[in-house]
Amino acid sequence: MKFKDKVALVTGAGCGIGKAIALAFAREGARVVVNDIDAGAIETTLAEIVKLGGEGLGMAADVSHSKEVKDMFAGTLKKFGTLDILVNNAGIARTTDEVLKRGDACLQELLTSGRVTTSVEATRTMTDEAWDRMLAVHLYGTFYCTREALNIMEDRGKGKIINMASIAGMVGIPGSPDYSAAKGAIIAFTKSVAREVIGRGVYVNAIAPGWIDTPLLTHQLTPTFRFVAVTQTPVGRMGTPEEVAAVALFLASEDASFVVGQVICPTGGGYV
Ligand SMILES: NC(=O)c1ccc[n+]([C@@H]2O[C@H](COP(=O)([O-])OP(=O)(O)OC[C@H]3O[C@@H](n4cnc5c(N)ncnc54)[C@H](O)[C@@H]3O)[C@@H](O)[C@H]2O)c1
Repeated sequence: MKFKDKVALVTGAGCGIGKAIALAFAREGARVVVNDIDAGAIETTLAEIVKLGGEGLGMAADVSHSKEVKDMFAGTLKKFGTLDILVNNAGIARTTDEVLKRGDACLQELLTSGRVTTSVEATRTMTDEAWDRMLAVHLYGTFYCTREALNIMEDRGKGKIINMASIAGMVGIPGSPDYSAAKGAIIAFTKSVAREVIGRGVYVNAIAPGWIDTPLLTHQLTPTFRFVAVTQTPVGRMGTPEEVAAVALFLASEDASFVVGQVICPTGGGYV
């Protein structure tokens, strides 16, 4: 077992990629703090950890609230006394029905005429609230959790932090300016913090997945969108949460002892 007795905190671990990461750590012997904003989803993940013979601690918190994040780390220390691994995974992907409809029309146009002349009008129609929420959950959440983790890890002289970015932060995906901005900022944050704290033995890296089949995408992907996502992925399918979890396990392990400030992209060849 690669992570016997280590303590790992995974945000947004109630479903999708975060849940797969939490279970993967539990399988490798880690004690896992399962965070999510959805208390019911936490219980599902915890039940699966127990089924695996593992130990977990549920911590409901909204990562975009610094006080809730502080309390979550205090609860983690109270229960387990330390923290070895933090995975900043919690995320949202919100858009409006109108943007989705226009996005589908653009794809249809592309597929039939080879050229898109319309716009999804995501940026010009975005509200302040939608923009703020996207940045708050992804970027502020990553910062708040990283700050708390470093208060533990820098003093101990060791630790691993893994931030969930996205290829959306590296290539321009039309229709998601808020999401792309948040993920691009997470990549820049990762690189800066990685170089700041590696001298203290704390490793910070990011994962930037391509299309992964999770509930996050379910309402976003019309059949046309799904078709295009798969055709953009040379492996010929979308990825699974477990395939992203495998990368997180690598980055959290001693095998990644010379990997600092990197962005690893499990994209099935969709971004190389
Ligand atoms: N699915 C993809 O194709 C894909 C691709 C690239 C990156 N990502 C990123 O991977 C991460 C996980 O995505 P997923 O596809 O598993 O999504 P998901 O919707 O399946 O899971 C996200 C989880 O985060 C939780 N969450 C949302 N807001 C939260 C908050 N404020 N505080 C705490 N928890 C919160 C949700 O309740 C949910 O359980 C996200 O950061 C996402 O942006 C996903």
